[in-house]
Amino acid sequence: MKLTDQQVAHFHREGYLFLPELFTPAEVAVLREEAGRIYAEQRPEVWREKSGAPRTAFAAHLYNEAFRLLAAHPRMIAPVEQIFGEKLYMHQFKINAKSAFTGDVWQWHQDYGTWARDDGMPEPRAMNIAVYLDEVMSINGPLMLVPRSHTGGTLVATHDLRTTSYPLWVLDEATVTRLVEQGGIVTPTGKPGGLLMFHGNLVHGSAGNITPYPRKIVYLTLNAVSNYIRTPTRPEFIAHRDFTPIEPVADDALIRYARTYPAAAE
Ligand code: SIN
Ligand code: MN
Repeated sequence: MKLTDQQVAHFHREGYLFLPELFTPAEVAVLREEAGRIYAEQRPEVWREKSGAPRTAFAAHLYNEAFRLLAAHPRMIAPVEQIFGEKLYMHQFKINAKSAFTGDVWQWHQDYGTWARDDGMPEPRAMNIAVYLDEVMSINGPLMLVPRSHTGGTLVATHDLRTTSYPLWVLDEATVTRLVEQGGIVTPTGKPGGLLMFHGNLVHGSAGNITPYPRKIVYLTLNAVSNYIRTPTRPEFIAHRDFTPIEPVADDALIRYARTYPAAAE
């Protein structure tokens, strides 16, 4: 799969690109089913909200076959290789639950702020990919992006260790207000299977989910191999140290796996 010149230009100008329904309902059904199983496990990679509801499952591509296939999927790897012009490795892999009724906020932040400060990543040459496992609606805590906010570099941030169960380098209100006055806020909503890619310096966040509709999203951070992290401080399951270039699987790998999995593919 190759992005058009127009799509590449949109990414560079706005800082994000949304490709609706890139994965089929059968492919997504397997991933959704497997995400539910993973959240039910008690393991260090699964972080919970203060309420106890699942928040994030890290590194599932290392212990789950369906997510291993997703992590090397050519529909995602090829466009990011196209943009960076080199091979990629997986810097971070997480399945965010944003559970019905209890899914908590993600404060305004830039991801590269954390990758630089906590992991020693030299440049913002890592791409965030969001794959929607549930429908993302305007009401169930969609990801909110500030278009064009990636052009101002890495902004001053403070390390918030209190608001949620997950530490995050967050931006202050004055900075967010200034950037939103310039670029507005967009919420790319859509059906399961949608893929959103966004720049490491794009400002984003999401509100809590008080609806009965869960909003699971898989986030993959694909880093250019030459931009490997130099001084990691976080656990290996959060900031990976295996810099081996990803070799894509076949385009139908997930769908073939789904066929061996009747309960989810029905
Ligand atoms: C993130 O920024 O890493 C996650 C945001 C979200 O899932 O809403
Ligand atoms: Mn983020």
